[in-house]
Amino acid sequence: MEDFSSVDDNLMQKEVAEGLSKSQKQLPSKYFYDEKGSDLFEQITRLDEYYLTRCEKEILQKNIKEIADYIGSDVMLIELGSGSSYKTRFLLEELSYLSTYIPVDISEEFLLKTVNRLRLEYPKISIIPVFADYTSRFELPITEGSRQNQVVFFPGSTIGNFDPQEAQELLRNIAGITGENSEMLIGVDLKKEIDVLESAYNDQQGVTAQFNKNILAHINRQLDANFEIEKFRHKAFYNEGAGRIEMHLVSTDKQMVSVGDHEIGFEEGESIHTENSYKYSLEEFEELVADWYSIEKVWTDEKNYFSMHYLKKK
Ligand code: AVJ
Repeated sequence: MEDFSSVDDNLMQKEVAEGLSKSQKQLPSKYFYDEKGSDLFEQITRLDEYYLTRCEKEILQKNIKEIADYIGSDVMLIELGSGSSYKTRFLLEELSYLSTYIPVDISEEFLLKTVNRLRLEYPKISIIPVFADYTSRFELPITEGSRQNQVVFFPGSTIGNFDPQEAQELLRNIAGITGENSEMLIGVDLKKEIDVLESAYNDQQGVTAQFNKNILAHINRQLDANFEIEKFRHKAFYNEGAGRIEMHLVSTDKQMVSVGDHEIGFEEGESIHTENSYKYSLEEFEELVADWYSIEKVWTDEKNYFSMHYLKKK
Protein backbone atom coordinates (compact mmCIF):
# COMPACT_ATOMS: atom_id res chain seq x y z
CA MET A 1 0.00 0.00 0.00
CA GLU A 2 1.41 3.33 -0.90
CA ASP A 3 -0.17 6.32 -2.48
CA PHE A 4 -3.90 6.61 -2.79
CA SER A 5 -3.76 10.27 -3.78
CA SER A 6 -5.39 9.55 -7.10
CA VAL A 7 -8.67 8.73 -5.38
CA ASP A 8 -11.46 11.02 -6.30
CA ASP A 9 -11.73 14.06 -3.98
CA ASN A 10 -15.50 14.21 -4.38
CA LEU A 11 -15.90 10.61 -3.35
CA MET A 12 -13.56 11.17 -0.41
CA GLN A 13 -15.48 14.29 0.65
CA LYS A 14 -18.75 12.36 0.47
CA GLU A 15 -17.48 9.31 2.37
CA VAL A 16 -15.80 11.41 5.07
CA ALA A 17 -18.87 13.61 5.59
CA GLU A 18 -21.10 10.53 5.70
CA GLY A 19 -18.92 8.70 8.20
CA LEU A 20 -18.65 11.70 10.51
CA SER A 21 -22.39 12.26 10.57
CA LYS A 22 -23.16 8.82 12.05
CA SER A 23 -23.89 8.54 15.76
CA GLN A 24 -20.71 6.47 16.18
CA LYS A 25 -18.49 8.61 13.97
CA GLN A 26 -16.34 6.59 11.60
CA LEU A 27 -13.88 6.96 8.72
CA PRO A 28 -13.04 4.45 5.98
CA SER A 29 -9.68 2.89 6.79
CA LYS A 30 -8.55 3.15 3.15
CA TYR A 31 -7.89 6.85 3.90
CA PHE A 32 -4.93 5.95 6.12
CA TYR A 33 -2.86 5.36 3.05
CA ASP A 34 -1.68 8.59 1.54
CA GLU A 35 2.08 8.76 1.00
CA LYS A 36 2.80 9.57 4.64
CA GLY A 37 0.40 6.87 5.85
CA SER A 38 1.92 4.22 3.59
CA ASP A 39 5.32 5.16 4.93
CA LEU A 40 4.07 4.88 8.52
CA PHE A 41 2.55 1.48 7.74
CA GLU A 42 5.94 0.34 6.42
CA GLN A 43 7.41 1.40 9.77
CA ILE A 44 4.69 -0.53 11.61
CA THR A 45 5.62 -3.73 9.78
CA ARG A 46 9.11 -3.47 11.28
CA LEU A 47 8.00 -2.94 14.91
CA ASP A 48 8.74 -5.63 17.52
CA GLU A 49 5.10 -5.64 18.61
CA TYR A 50 3.67 -5.97 15.10
CA TYR A 51 4.07 -9.72 14.65
CA LEU A 52 1.81 -10.02 11.57
CA THR A 53 4.31 -9.19 8.84
CA ARG A 54 7.13 -11.12 10.50
CA CYS A 55 4.99 -14.24 10.93
CA GLU A 56 3.72 -14.12 7.39
CA LYS A 57 7.28 -13.77 6.13
CA GLU A 58 8.33 -16.75 8.25
CA ILE A 59 5.51 -18.86 6.79
CA LEU A 60 6.37 -17.89 3.23
CA GLN A 61 10.06 -18.51 3.70
CA LYS A 62 9.78 -21.83 5.48
CA ASN A 63 7.25 -23.28 3.08
CA ILE A 64 8.11 -21.62 -0.19
CA LYS A 65 8.84 -24.85 -2.08
CA GLU A 66 5.57 -26.40 -1.02
CA ILE A 67 3.67 -23.18 -1.72
CA ALA A 68 5.23 -23.00 -5.16
CA ASP A 69 4.13 -26.61 -5.77
CA TYR A 70 0.56 -25.77 -4.85
CA ILE A 71 0.60 -22.77 -7.18
CA GLY A 72 2.04 -24.89 -9.98
CA SER A 73 3.43 -23.73 -13.30
CA ASP A 74 2.09 -21.71 -16.20
CA VAL A 75 -0.23 -19.77 -13.93
CA MET A 76 -1.66 -16.31 -13.86
CA LEU A 77 -1.00 -14.71 -10.46
CA ILE A 78 -3.45 -11.98 -9.47
CA GLU A 79 -2.43 -9.85 -6.48
CA LEU A 80 -5.02 -7.79 -4.61
CA GLY A 81 -3.59 -4.56 -3.20
CA SER A 82 0.04 -3.44 -3.40
CA GLY A 83 2.53 -5.39 -5.39
CA SER A 84 5.68 -3.63 -4.45
CA SER A 85 6.42 -5.55 -1.33
CA TYR A 86 9.08 -7.97 -0.34
CA LYS A 87 6.44 -10.73 -0.36
CA THR A 88 5.60 -10.24 -4.02
CA ARG A 89 9.23 -10.38 -5.07
CA PHE A 90 9.81 -13.41 -2.95
CA LEU A 91 6.98 -15.21 -4.71
CA LEU A 92 7.89 -14.00 -8.21
CA GLU A 93 11.44 -15.12 -7.57
CA GLU A 94 10.34 -18.63 -6.69
CA LEU A 95 7.69 -19.06 -9.37
CA SER A 96 10.00 -19.38 -12.31
CA TYR A 97 7.21 -20.61 -14.57
CA LEU A 98 4.81 -17.82 -13.80
CA SER A 99 3.52 -16.51 -17.10
CA THR A 100 1.30 -13.60 -16.12
CA TYR A 101 1.25 -11.33 -13.08
CA ILE A 102 -1.72 -9.03 -12.55
CA PRO A 103 -1.43 -6.52 -9.70
CA VAL A 104 -4.78 -4.93 -8.86
CA ASP A 105 -4.63 -1.60 -7.06
CA ILE A 106 -6.74 1.50 -6.49
CA SER A 107 -3.85 3.91 -7.10
CA GLU A 108 -2.96 4.21 -10.77
CA GLU A 109 0.22 6.16 -10.09
CA PHE A 110 1.47 3.62 -7.60
CA LEU A 111 0.55 0.74 -9.85
CA LEU A 112 2.44 2.14 -12.82
CA LYS A 113 5.54 2.80 -10.75
CA THR A 114 5.52 -0.75 -9.43
CA VAL A 115 4.89 -2.28 -12.82
CA ASN A 116 7.73 -0.38 -14.45
CA ARG A 117 10.14 -1.68 -11.85
CA LEU A 118 8.90 -5.26 -11.93
CA ARG A 119 9.04 -5.41 -15.74
CA LEU A 120 12.74 -4.62 -15.63
CA GLU A 121 13.39 -7.20 -12.92
CA TYR A 122 11.24 -9.96 -14.44
CA PRO A 123 11.36 -9.52 -18.21
CA LYS A 124 9.92 -12.98 -18.87
CA ILE A 125 6.74 -12.43 -16.92
CA SER A 126 3.93 -10.66 -18.68
CA ILE A 127 2.80 -7.99 -16.21
CA ILE A 128 -0.64 -6.48 -16.68
CA PRO A 129 -1.75 -3.88 -14.12
CA VAL A 130 -5.43 -3.53 -13.35
CA PHE A 131 -6.42 -0.19 -11.94
CA ALA A 132 -9.48 -0.97 -9.83
CA ASP A 133 -11.01 -0.92 -6.39
CA TYR A 134 -11.10 -4.65 -5.70
CA THR A 135 -13.77 -4.13 -3.04
CA SER A 136 -16.24 -3.41 -5.83
CA ARG A 137 -16.75 -5.46 -8.97
CA PHE A 138 -13.88 -5.34 -11.40
CA GLU A 139 -12.87 -7.30 -14.47
CA LEU A 140 -9.77 -9.23 -15.32
CA PRO A 141 -8.17 -8.55 -18.67
CA ILE A 142 -8.56 -11.22 -21.31
CA THR A 143 -5.08 -12.31 -22.23
CA GLU A 144 -3.42 -15.10 -24.12
CA GLY A 145 -3.11 -16.80 -20.79
CA SER A 146 -6.75 -16.44 -19.84
CA ARG A 147 -7.28 -20.17 -19.82
CA GLN A 148 -4.34 -20.62 -17.48
CA ASN A 149 -4.89 -21.58 -13.91
CA GLN A 150 -5.54 -18.41 -11.95
CA VAL A 151 -4.16 -17.92 -8.45
CA VAL A 152 -5.15 -14.91 -6.37
CA PHE A 153 -2.52 -13.68 -3.88
CA PHE A 154 -4.09 -11.72 -0.99
CA PRO A 155 -1.46 -11.38 1.77
CA GLY A 156 -1.14 -9.31 4.94
CA SER A 157 -4.49 -10.13 6.56
CA THR A 158 -6.06 -7.29 4.60
CA ILE A 159 -9.21 -9.44 4.59
CA GLY A 160 -9.39 -8.59 8.33
CA ASN A 161 -10.23 -4.97 7.54
CA PHE A 162 -13.63 -6.06 6.24
CA ASP A 163 -16.42 -7.16 8.52
CA PRO A 164 -17.37 -10.79 7.91
CA GLN A 165 -20.30 -9.90 5.66
CA GLU A 166 -18.18 -7.56 3.53
CA ALA A 167 -15.41 -10.16 3.46
CA GLN A 168 -17.88 -12.69 2.09
CA GLU A 169 -19.07 -10.26 -0.57
CA LEU A 170 -15.46 -9.76 -1.57
CA LEU A 171 -14.86 -13.52 -1.76
CA ARG A 172 -18.01 -14.03 -3.79
CA ASN A 173 -16.92 -11.24 -6.11
CA ILE A 174 -13.46 -12.74 -6.62
CA ALA A 175 -14.84 -16.24 -7.11
CA GLY A 176 -17.20 -14.73 -9.69
CA ILE A 177 -14.54 -13.09 -11.84
CA THR A 178 -11.95 -15.86 -11.73
CA GLY A 179 -12.28 -19.06 -13.73
CA GLU A 180 -13.04 -22.63 -12.84
CA ASN A 181 -10.41 -24.27 -10.64
CA SER A 182 -9.03 -20.90 -9.61
CA GLU A 183 -7.15 -20.81 -6.33
CA MET A 184 -6.19 -18.31 -3.67
CA LEU A 185 -3.23 -17.87 -1.31
CA ILE A 186 -4.47 -15.66 1.50
CA GLY A 187 -2.89 -14.41 4.75
CA VAL A 188 -5.14 -14.35 7.82
CA ASP A 189 -4.32 -13.16 11.33
CA LEU A 190 -5.36 -15.58 14.08
CA LYS A 191 -7.05 -15.22 17.45
CA LYS A 192 -4.57 -15.30 20.33
CA GLU A 193 -3.86 -13.84 23.79
CA ILE A 194 -5.39 -10.39 24.11
CA ASP A 195 -2.09 -8.89 25.33
CA VAL A 196 -0.31 -9.90 22.16
CA LEU A 197 -3.12 -8.53 19.98
CA GLU A 198 -3.41 -5.25 21.83
CA SER A 199 0.34 -4.63 21.95
CA ALA A 200 0.53 -4.97 18.17
CA TYR A 201 -1.74 -1.93 17.86
CA ASN A 202 -0.30 0.02 20.83
CA ASP A 203 3.43 0.01 20.17
CA GLN A 204 5.85 1.64 22.61
CA GLN A 205 7.24 4.03 20.00
CA GLY A 206 3.80 5.36 19.14
CA VAL A 207 4.10 4.67 15.41
CA THR A 208 0.60 3.16 15.29
CA ALA A 209 -0.74 6.25 17.08
CA GLN A 210 0.88 8.42 14.41
CA PHE A 211 -0.51 6.17 11.69
CA ASN A 212 -4.00 6.45 13.17
CA LYS A 213 -3.81 10.26 13.53
CA ASN A 214 -2.48 10.62 10.01
CA ILE A 215 -5.96 9.88 8.69
CA LEU A 216 -6.98 13.32 10.00
CA ALA A 217 -3.89 14.95 8.52
CA HIS A 218 -4.67 13.27 5.20
CA ILE A 219 -8.22 14.66 5.32
CA ASN A 220 -6.87 18.14 6.16
CA ARG A 221 -4.44 17.97 3.25
CA GLN A 222 -6.82 16.51 0.71
CA LEU A 223 -10.09 18.16 1.63
CA ASP A 224 -10.87 21.58 3.03
CA ALA A 225 -10.78 20.44 6.68
CA ASN A 226 -9.31 21.77 9.92
CA PHE A 227 -8.81 18.91 12.35
CA GLU A 228 -6.46 19.83 15.20
CA ILE A 229 -4.53 16.59 15.39
CA GLU A 230 -3.25 17.23 18.93
CA LYS A 231 -6.84 17.21 20.15
CA PHE A 232 -7.28 13.54 19.32
CA ARG A 233 -5.80 10.58 21.15
CA HIS A 234 -5.07 7.10 19.75
CA LYS A 235 -7.05 4.22 21.22
CA ALA A 236 -6.85 0.57 20.15
CA PHE A 237 -8.38 -2.41 21.93
CA TYR A 238 -9.59 -5.93 21.30
CA ASN A 239 -13.37 -6.25 21.12
CA GLU A 240 -13.70 -9.86 22.16
CA GLY A 241 -17.37 -10.25 21.28
CA ALA A 242 -16.80 -9.08 17.72
CA GLY A 243 -13.38 -10.79 17.42
CA ARG A 244 -11.63 -7.68 16.21
CA ILE A 245 -9.13 -4.99 17.10
CA GLU A 246 -10.78 -1.58 16.90
CA MET A 247 -8.88 1.63 16.41
CA HIS A 248 -10.42 4.92 17.42
CA LEU A 249 -9.41 8.56 17.68
CA VAL A 250 -10.80 10.07 20.86
CA SER A 251 -11.51 13.78 21.09
CA THR A 252 -9.67 15.22 24.10
CA ASP A 253 -12.00 18.27 24.22
CA LYS A 254 -15.41 19.46 23.26
CA GLN A 255 -14.70 20.93 19.83
CA MET A 256 -15.97 21.82 16.37
CA VAL A 257 -14.29 20.75 13.15
CA SER A 258 -15.16 21.77 9.62
CA VAL A 259 -14.84 19.52 6.60
CA GLY A 260 -15.85 21.43 3.48
CA ASP A 261 -19.15 23.05 4.39
CA HIS A 262 -19.92 20.50 7.10
CA GLU A 263 -19.51 21.53 10.72
CA ILE A 264 -18.96 18.57 13.00
CA GLY A 265 -19.26 18.77 16.77
CA PHE A 266 -17.31 16.51 19.15
CA GLU A 267 -18.01 15.94 22.81
CA GLU A 268 -15.04 15.43 25.11
CA GLY A 269 -14.23 11.70 24.98
CA GLU A 270 -16.25 11.07 21.81
CA SER A 271 -14.47 8.87 19.29
CA ILE A 272 -14.10 8.34 15.57
CA HIS A 273 -13.89 4.64 14.74
CA THR A 274 -11.12 4.41 12.15
CA GLU A 275 -10.40 0.70 11.66
CA ASN A 276 -11.43 -2.86 12.38
CA SER A 277 -8.95 -5.69 12.14
CA TYR A 278 -10.76 -9.02 12.47
CA LYS A 279 -9.00 -12.07 13.89
CA TYR A 280 -10.13 -15.60 13.07
CA SER A 281 -9.67 -19.10 14.37
CA LEU A 282 -8.81 -21.63 11.65
CA GLU A 283 -12.35 -23.04 11.91
CA GLU A 284 -13.97 -19.62 11.69
CA PHE A 285 -12.00 -18.77 8.58
CA GLU A 286 -12.90 -22.07 6.95
CA GLU A 287 -16.54 -21.29 7.65
CA LEU A 288 -16.21 -17.73 6.32
CA VAL A 289 -15.07 -18.93 2.89
CA ALA A 290 -17.08 -22.17 2.74
CA ASP A 291 -19.73 -21.02 0.25
CA TRP A 292 -17.10 -20.41 -2.46
CA TYR A 293 -13.84 -22.03 -1.45
CA SER A 294 -12.55 -25.19 0.14
CA ILE A 295 -9.31 -25.17 2.09
CA GLU A 296 -6.58 -27.25 0.51
CA LYS A 297 -3.81 -26.46 2.96
CA VAL A 298 -3.06 -24.24 5.96
CA TRP A 299 0.38 -23.08 7.06
CA THR A 300 1.02 -21.29 10.35
CA ASP A 301 4.11 -19.81 11.99
CA GLU A 302 5.84 -21.41 14.96
CA LYS A 303 3.73 -19.53 17.52
CA ASN A 304 0.44 -20.06 15.66
CA TYR A 305 -0.08 -16.31 15.46
CA PHE A 306 -0.69 -16.06 11.71
CA SER A 307 -1.94 -18.32 8.94
CA MET A 308 -1.72 -18.69 5.19
CA HIS A 309 -4.47 -20.64 3.49
CA TYR A 310 -4.48 -22.26 0.09
CA LEU A 311 -8.05 -22.15 -1.17
CA LYS A 312 -9.64 -23.79 -4.17
CA LYS A 313 -12.81 -22.50 -5.78
CA LYS A 314 -15.72 -24.90 -5.28
C1 AVJ B 1 -2.76 -3.72 6.72
C2 AVJ B 1 -4.99 -3.90 7.43
C3 AVJ B 1 -3.49 -5.70 7.80
O1 AVJ B 1 -5.08 -4.42 10.33
O2 AVJ B 1 -3.12 -4.96 11.08
C4 AVJ B 1 -1.67 -1.87 11.22
C5 AVJ B 1 -3.31 -2.19 9.24
N1 AVJ B 1 -3.58 -0.93 11.39
N2 AVJ B 1 -1.71 -1.23 12.40
C6 AVJ B 1 -3.85 -4.40 10.26
C7 AVJ B 1 -2.87 -1.68 10.58
C8 AVJ B 1 -2.87 -0.64 12.49
C9 AVJ B 1 -3.16 -3.67 9.10
N3 AVJ B 1 -3.61 -4.23 7.77
